[in-house]
Amino acid sequence: MSTVDYDGLIPNNVGLKDNRKILKALERWHPKFMEWWRDQGPVAYQENEIYLRTAVSVGSSGWANYDYVRMPDYRWGIFLAPVKGERRIHFGDFIGNECWEDVPGEHRNELRRLIVTQGDTEPGSVEQQRRLSLTAPSLYDMRNLFQVNVEEARHLWAMVYLLQMYFGKDGRYEAEEMLHRCSGDADAPRILSTFNDPVEDWLDFFCFATYTDRDGKYQLGSLAESAFTPMSQTTRFMLTEEAHHLFVGETGIARTLQRSAELMRDHDSDDITESGGIPIPVVQKYINYWYSSSLDLFGSEDSSNAANYFANGLKGRFNEANRKLYPDAAGNEGVYVFETYDPDVGRLSSYEVPMRRAMNAVLRDSYVADCRKAVVRWNKILAKEGCPLQIKLPSERFNRSVGSFVAGRFDPDGNILTEQQWESRRDDFIPTRKDRDRVKEVQVPVTERGKFASWIAPPARGIHGQPIDYEYVRL
Ligand SMILES: [Fe+2]
Ligand SMILES: [Fe+2]
Repeated sequence: MSTVDYDGLIPNNVGLKDNRKILKALERWHPKFMEWWRDQGPVAYQENEIYLRTAVSVGSSGWANYDYVRMPDYRWGIFLAPVKGERRIHFGDFIGNECWEDVPGEHRNELRRLIVTQGDTEPGSVEQQRRLSLTAPSLYDMRNLFQVNVEEARHLWAMVYLLQMYFGKDGRYEAEEMLHRCSGDADAPRILSTFNDPVEDWLDFFCFATYTDRDGKYQLGSLAESAFTPMSQTTRFMLTEEAHHLFVGETGIARTLQRSAELMRDHDSDDITESGGIPIPVVQKYINYWYSSSLDLFGSEDSSNAANYFANGLKGRFNEANRKLYPDAAGNEGVYVFETYDPDVGRLSSYEVPMRRAMNAVLRDSYVADCRKAVVRWNKILAKEGCPLQIKLPSERFNRSVGSFVAGRFDPDGNILTEQQWESRRDDFIPTRKDRDRVKEVQVPVTERGKFASWIAPPARGIHGQPIDYEYVRL
């Protein structure tokens, strides 16, 4: 592992200085990236100084630097987490074999696909969120949005580095394509559907950061187990940044709910739009929508690709090394039982697959358990405010476009609905145009230091030890 080089155009700890070929390729890609950032990145505040953290090292303590920076001047770097000792494959068919410093020919296509699919989500999310700064509820929140945006762009760099370093001409082609596709574009959309869904308002954003970024956490976690060492290293470092994105999402919803509960109590009414809040049932609908969309990102419960990735050591389970959690390192024992809906008989039935074929579902189960914890924390806040309402994580059957429930209609409790029942009740389940317009009405921008929009409570504390009324964005 090289030391951190912070002097060149691209900060890195991968020894770019000594690798002219890759340095050249990345330097050629850089202006195209900047053009993308200008055209598809945040629509405003590009010239303002923002209080941002920048990755500067990979040490467990003090890996980031906090300072004012204009976003176009952000130092997007390439950092690999250090490897402790010798790495050996610890799951699948090749347990005990040495891990790979380079891409093995026989896994080239699969690795390329995994990296491209992950990489494509990073700029996708920046594009989805590009207008949100115009309605930021505070400077604190605006700064958090921009922090997430610059780090997603750095994650794109991380994936583009792997492509250019290990995939030659194909990698350079894929790096260009990353900037060519665009969220929601009719001709060249982002690869995964959730990354083409509009993020119109801050409730979308907080749900996205809670549920879609959390999918990212689990995908990165499974790639961190990979036998391809550079991918493991780069995804492990990305996970340190990802934690903040989840924090922004979860605390954003928590603060929204807290304010809603306060307004309900103070005005003794459930309808708090008049008093500038967002009704809790509307928050619930946004959660229903983004959670179900994010579940789709895990793919089908029964997947030969997933079995193949696992068998060959490309992608493990979340926390794969924990043998208390997964005693069977080869993933060969037992079956995974999942539910499926058969539209012909209008019934649910259970279906068995060999464990390896169910690795998508196993990963998704870890994700769902994590999502449940967030709901418990939100509900504690509501209970503490004396609010009679609670948030509920919808059933995994609800509103799915991928997997074993696509052929059916279900309510958020998982009850089977007819198409007619679905049509007549869907407005109770997912945000309507009217819900969204009312959310927009209350989400007016607030740019005065230390002030917050009426629909959201201030955070418990500021960023990096700074006070809540800190000048997070210099206007
Ligand atoms: Fe990311
Ligand atoms: Fe993220």
